Amino acid sequence: MKNLNSRRDFIKTSALVTGGMLAPSFLVPGAYAAPDNHLKLAVIGCGGRGTGAVFQAFETGHPIQLVAMADAFQDRLDNSYKAISTKYGAEKVAVTPDTMFVGFEGYKQAIALADVVILAAPPGFRPQHFEEAVKQGKQIFMEKPVATDAVGIRKVLAAAEEAKAKKLNVVVGLQRHYQNNYREVIKRIHNGDLGEITGGQVYWNDGGVWVRERQPGQTEMEYQMRNWYYFNWLCGDHIVEQHVHNIDIANWVKNAYPIKAEGTGGRQIRTGKDHGEIFDHHVLTFTYADGSVIHSECRHFPGAANRVDETFQGTKGKVYLSAGNHGIMTDWKGNSIYTHDRENQPNPYQQEHDELWAALVKGEYKFADAENAAKSTMTSIMGRYATYSGKVLTWDEALNGSVDLFPEELDWDAQPKLLPNADGYYPHAIPGKTQVI
Ligand SMILES: NC(=O)c1ccc[n+]([C@@H]2O[C@H](COP(=O)([O-])OP(=O)(O)OC[C@H]3O[C@@H](n4cnc5c(N)ncnc54)[C@H](O)[C@@H]3O)[C@@H](O)[C@H]2O)c1
Repeated sequence: MKNLNSRRDFIKTSALVTGGMLAPSFLVPGAYAAPDNHLKLAVIGCGGRGTGAVFQAFETGHPIQLVAMADAFQDRLDNSYKAISTKYGAEKVAVTPDTMFVGFEGYKQAIALADVVILAAPPGFRPQHFEEAVKQGKQIFMEKPVATDAVGIRKVLAAAEEAKAKKLNVVVGLQRHYQNNYREVIKRIHNGDLGEITGGQVYWNDGGVWVRERQPGQTEMEYQMRNWYYFNWLCGDHIVEQHVHNIDIANWVKNAYPIKAEGTGGRQIRTGKDHGEIFDHHVLTFTYADGSVIHSECRHFPGAANRVDETFQGTKGKVYLSAGNHGIMTDWKGNSIYTHDRENQPNPYQQEHDELWAALVKGEYKFADAENAAKSTMTSIMGRYATYSGKVLTWDEALNGSVDLFPEELDWDAQPKLLPNADGYYPHAIPGKTQVI
C-alpha cells in the first residue's frame, strides 16, 4: 500500500488508482460473472459495519471476491483489510495496494472496479456515494440512514429512480425488513388482522454510543470525521442514525409516511466538548394522513431505563414488536391473534445479504429499497427539524428544506460549516430560535 500518512497525501490519493473503469456487466441478466467466475465487490467505508457487511457477503457462500476498498482514513482501511483477509484469505480478498483508496475521492475508483458495492461510510456521505454507484451502474448494498438533511434525501430519491430505471438491485440495511418476526406480523397487519391501525409507540432509549475524543494535531475536519456521531452533517443526530429503524417500522406498518411532526428535545446530560451539537433526547408525535398518531421517543441517558421496540394499536387489537424476534398480536380481550416463534430465527444482517446475493448470482432484479429508506430517513430528519426548531412541520416543508449541512469543500484543511467557540464547545439548536429548513 502507498504510504499515505501525511495529511496532504490523504487528499490526493484518488490519483493512485491503476485499474481502469470496467464495463458494468450487470445490465445483462446472466452475464454477471467475471472471467474468474467471481462477482467483484468493493466496500466504501471500512469501519465496523462495512467490514461486517463484507463478512456477511462472503458468508452467503456465493463466488465473491473483494477487489477494492475505500476509506477516508488509512488506519481504518488497514484494520478492516486485516480483519477481512485474516478471516477469508487471498482467494476471496483480491485487494492490492493499488485498489485500496484513502481520502475523500477514492470511492469513485473503488466503485469502478466492482460489480457490487457496499456503501457504509457515515450517512452524510451516502447521497454522494449512492449517486456515484448508480451512475456507474452497480448493484448496491447501502447502510441506513441514507442522508442527514433534506438536500441529501432529494439526491437519494432521484438516484433511487435512476437505479430503478437501470434495474440495479438496491438493498438498504434497515434489516428489520429482512427479519421474520417483522415480516410475519406486518403481513398480518396489512391483511387487516388488527383492523385499522390508529396509533403506536416507537422507542430507541439507551445509554448512547462511542465518543472519539479530539487528538493533538487533528484539523477540525479530521476531528469531526473521526468523531462523526456528534455532527449532523455526518450523522444526522441519533434520531436519524438509530431511531430510523423504529420510525421505519411505523411507516411500514402504516404503509404511509407522516404528514406532520411536532415534538420536543434537548441536551440534558451529554453536553461536553466532544459531544458536538446533537441532542440526547427527542420526543415526538408523527401524524399520518388518516389521522392516526405515532409517538416516537429516543434518548441517550446512561443509567436510565432502556427500551428499543415498537407497539401499535388497531381497532381489533394490538401488537408488540422488537428486534429480539418478538411479534405478539392479541385482540382487545387478550386472546392471541399471532405469536412469533422466537427460536432459531435467522440473523437479519445475514439474511439481507443471503437474499441480495442469491438474486445477483441469478441475474435477477428484485430489490428497490432506496426510496423507502430515503422516506423513512426523511421522517427521522423531519423529527429532528421539529425538535430543533420547536415548530410543527409538514412533510412537504421538511422535504423541501434548503439548509445544506454538507461542507463547501472536502479537504483535511477545509472548514466544516459548524465550528466550535473559543472554549471548544459547539453551538447547538435552541427550540424556538433555530432555523432548520
Ligand atoms: N444496520 C445497522 O443496524 C447498522 C449498525 C451499525 C452501523 N450502521 C450504519 O453503518 C454506517 C457506518 O457505521 P459504522 O458503525 O461502521 O461506523 P464506523 O465509524 O465504524 O465506520 C465508518 C467508516 O467510514 C469511513 N469514512 C468516513 N468518511 C468516509 C468517506 N467519505 N469515504 C469513505 N469512507 C469514509 C470512516 O473512516 C470509518 O472507517 C452508518 O451509516 C451507520 O448508521 C448500521
